[in-house]
Amino acid sequence: MLSNKRILLIVAGGIAAYKTLELIRRLRERGASVRCILTRGGAQFVTPLSLAALSGDRVYDDLFSLTDEAAMGHIELSRDADLLVVAPATADLLAKMATGLADDLATTALLASDKPVLVAPSMNVRMWEHAATRANIETLAARGVLRVGPGAGDMACGEFGEGRMAEPDEILGAIEAVFRGDAPAVTPSGGAPARNRPLEGRKALVTSGPTHEAIDPVRYIANRSSGKQGHAIARALADLGARTTLVSGPTALADPAGISVIHVESAAEMLAACQQSLPVDVAVCAAAVSDWRTAEEAGQKMKKDGGGPPALALIENPDILRTLGEAGNLRPGLLIGFAAETEKIVEHAKVKLERKGADWILANDVSPATGTFGGDANVIHLIDGDGVEDWPRMSKEEVARRLVERIAENFVAKA
Ligand SMILES: Cc1cc2nc3c(=O)[nH]c(=O)nc-3n(C[C@H](O)[C@H](O)[C@H](O)COP(=O)(O)O)c2cc1C
Repeated sequence: MLSNKRILLIVAGGIAAYKTLELIRRLRERGASVRCILTRGGAQFVTPLSLAALSGDRVYDDLFSLTDEAAMGHIELSRDADLLVVAPATADLLAKMATGLADDLATTALLASDKPVLVAPSMNVRMWEHAATRANIETLAARGVLRVGPGAGDMACGEFGEGRMAEPDEILGAIEAVFRGDAPAVTPSGGAPARNRPLEGRKALVTSGPTHEAIDPVRYIANRSSGKQGHAIARALADLGARTTLVSGPTALADPAGISVIHVESAAEMLAACQQSLPVDVAVCAAAVSDWRTAEEAGQKMKKDGGGPPALALIENPDILRTLGEAGNLRPGLLIGFAAETEKIVEHAKVKLERKGADWILANDVSPATGTFGGDANVIHLIDGDGVEDWPRMSKEEVARRLVERIAENFVAKA
């Protein structure tokens, strides 16, 4: 696939530059030739010697080099390549690209090129979310610059969120897609390449999994929710382009790539994480939030001391769906709740729609015979202001796709 392809790889000054070394190795394993431009910032993170050794070529870093200009000048560098890849693409370099600056070899080669350009952004979450960076990314996308990632996760700076450079394999996949001729404008880090991204520019919030309500330091009240449905919905939203935050209770599931995941335990923590994620265009409350918690959490492990079992006084937990429904200006544009019922499914869900101020309720039968809790399939009844839609039994992935397509249609209809 990459045999004889010529990649001009621009390595800028981001902490993720170390991952680029692995990318060079993988590209060359697949038969591509790699020529590197190293920015001044980039040279603080990887050495020209490492890049030269891995690429098997000399490294270019000086715009005003008489010898380089005579042998392989800045125009030839971009002319000679089939594809320009910027990894890591720093906030600084993206800003320069968007503005059209050409004040060093990297920016000059980028400006002098008419070849496809793929960027792999890498930066702190606040830098990524800054309005200046968002505007630069949009400008570059409008000019046809392709992008892979960034993903979400723990950052080298100790923070958590979106901004991690895509992994070498993901960048490799995006490069191969360019040469196959089917590169999406944006390959979400870790997500499936999606051509049709109707939720691009929308912000989504999903809750998933159970909550754990502490009784004492070692015991808690929980439920059988696996988180499979909520996680699938978060993935489906991100696949259609939404910037998605997943607030997850304790589950055995891996964090979906390309999504900001906030891990919580209790209903109170889940509510706080949701409120902190507002405003959003759409919120899907798929978590099985415990209705009650103990009135008081014992500070020490409760002892079996012969005095009989303790009486646990329970109090009601905050209602997350209803609180979001009453969030005034911050109310999600489209608010969707799940109703897990074991009897009178639709009847109870209709009451819930009304009481909680939600726009849609997805009612599902979670009685043990259905295997819904923990299983891979679901039977949904979607209730909105117009009535009830009965969906056939389908996998939780299919439920997620169908729901997210309906969400996208809703935004189109309202636009
Ligand atoms: C330790 C350290 C880590 C940095 N990591 C990043 C990063 O991951 N992403 C980024 O955009 N800038 C990062 N910066 C800031 C850039 O290095 C700085 O903006 C530099 O001017 C970028 O130059 P360049 O884009 O020409 O390579 C970091 C700076 C330091 C000191």
